[in-house]
Amino acid sequence: NVRANGGNVTGKFDKFGYGFLHEDINNSGDGGIYAELIQNRAFQYSPSYPVSTAHYSPINGASLGIEFVSPPLSSALPASLRVSATNTTGQVGFQNEGYWGIDVRVQKYTGSFWTKGAYKGEFTAWLKSNLTTDVFGRVQVQSKSVADAWTEHKFELTPSVAAPSSNNTFAVTFDPAGTSNGTLDFNLISLFPPTYKGRANGLRIDIAEALEEMNPTYLRFPGGNMLEGLRLGAEWDWKDSIGPLRERPGFEGVWGYQQTHGLGLIEYLEWAEDMGLHFAVGLYAGLALNGNYTTEAELQPYIQDALNEIEFIIGPVTSTWGARRAELGHPEPFELNYVELGNEDWLAGFPGGWESYKAYRFPLMYEAVSKAYPDIQIIASSASSDPNPETAATDGLDFPADVLGDYHPYREPDQLVDEFDRFDNDFGHIVGEVAAVHVNGGIEWLGLLNPYPWWIGAVGESVSLIGYERNSDRIPMVLYAPVLKNINRFQWSITLIQFAADPALTTRAVTWYVWSLFAHHPITHTLPTTSTSDYGPLYWGAGRDDDRGGALVWKGAVFNTTNSSSVPVTVNFQGVRRGTKAKLTVLTNPGGDPFAYNDPFTGVNIVKTTETELVAGPRGGFKFSLPELSVAVLDTDVA
Ligand code: AHR
Repeated sequence: NVRANGGNVTGKFDKFGYGFLHEDINNSGDGGIYAELIQNRAFQYSPSYPVSTAHYSPINGASLGIEFVSPPLSSALPASLRVSATNTTGQVGFQNEGYWGIDVRVQKYTGSFWTKGAYKGEFTAWLKSNLTTDVFGRVQVQSKSVADAWTEHKFELTPSVAAPSSNNTFAVTFDPAGTSNGTLDFNLISLFPPTYKGRANGLRIDIAEALEEMNPTYLRFPGGNMLEGLRLGAEWDWKDSIGPLRERPGFEGVWGYQQTHGLGLIEYLEWAEDMGLHFAVGLYAGLALNGNYTTEAELQPYIQDALNEIEFIIGPVTSTWGARRAELGHPEPFELNYVELGNEDWLAGFPGGWESYKAYRFPLMYEAVSKAYPDIQIIASSASSDPNPETAATDGLDFPADVLGDYHPYREPDQLVDEFDRFDNDFGHIVGEVAAVHVNGGIEWLGLLNPYPWWIGAVGESVSLIGYERNSDRIPMVLYAPVLKNINRFQWSITLIQFAADPALTTRAVTWYVWSLFAHHPITHTLPTTSTSDYGPLYWGAGRDDDRGGALVWKGAVFNTTNSSSVPVTVNFQGVRRGTKAKLTVLTNPGGDPFAYNDPFTGVNIVKTTETELVAGPRGGFKFSLPELSVAVLDTDVA
């Protein structure tokens, strides 16, 4: 690679690419990309979120309560739902409201539930309206239920008609006359629509496809803050997230809700595999969000656990954890290129957590992981500018030469424009989380956040993205965060994609269009550029893609909110002759409002995409002009 501006090459990574950090925030996992439709399916709980029958309601006067029966369904799922008939006639049962509704259409739903209690008869599983008496589909399920043990009931349900809205419920009923005392216990009540690539326990199709269509290269998981947990001992423990669902206890979410652990390590790996993504796994490094951290004497089991996690992902089937992976249906090792040690250890728990990271948590983990897996690129959970740019030289991490930093700029649009040269003279980093989250000149985190990404923010991001891309020899990946938001749960304003139960509301934010444009014109090499003008209001970078026959790519953005005139541009690629064709794609917001955004409730996309075929003139130059607040790509690969 030709470096744009110098720096140390770390060299273990491959092609520069875009992608996302995914953690379960804004119900982006449960009730989001994880396709499970039943909310509170297994009555999971934790110190922050007490066990409850929330999201269930009785049918025909049944009484619903939580019981800790003996034996439990599993040690991971000790609580269950007791359904007792109070009326002596008619079917009784429960209904679940899903995650703010359930999308019902004519397609095959795959469900299951476990019961305990003697019952001779049939269950009925229903998909029905929450507003009217309409039933869209139902299926009879023969009981296998017995008094002293838990039994699983599986079924498939294909509604005969689609529901007019997503205000629907899933219900299970039974005839109390067939039971010994009108009471049955239920647990792990699950219903899935068809999933992305047909995976069992898989992903919601429309959301996964919206991500895939962005043409991403990288996925970082499971956090973010979620990796760290609220306190010591409450971290996202990967071992709790693998295996049959009845063995997953659930996770005490750090974003205000109990989580199921349904989107577990294996599901993340299969997500990456199915979308063709490289991934960076966050390994827990002994720091909790409340600032407590593991002492040096206590750290070794965590280091071993991190090594075991890597072995689970890439170990041969002859290894302990590789064998476990094979047992779970994936004998082939996954391809693991990146691991990150912790998450933002410079931030949470400062200064004790940070001091311990520098003193022993990072060095000991780094030593163990790099020794066992020298081919894996290790990422430290801080940037060269952390804990803050003024004191980083003395207070920052002493990065080993082969380690990448991780930089997380959540900024105002103007600040992201200032980021343009952030990496011109620095060593390698990933940009593990980035987004425009505040308006210019606002009061940052103390102010109201915009509900959805807005156009000037997206253009501000594009300038920083060009800045990262022109240092692609040291910046392998740039990841948007947070990525997904269920519009019924607001923890964080900006996200690439918003959704609700009804897929008609699934909306690509303005930022999605910018990131998608850049991701669809990848480069293998950054190229040096010269110009007769300085940067601003036009910012640009150039590259070559050897995977597309040496296609030449120029990316640019105009960010100048004080001057509304267009910027004339001539791009000359060295070696390109007169008559060569190139495709110019320009994104604009014709409405002109810098704060316009794509609102799920209007469905209007404010981003206009214009594609033009240009022909190189004298000296191989491509001439065009770009309006204020526009983002553009010129690519000689016109196929
Ligand atoms: O993306 C939201 C949060 O921002 C992440 O969990 C954390 O890493 C960062 O501070």
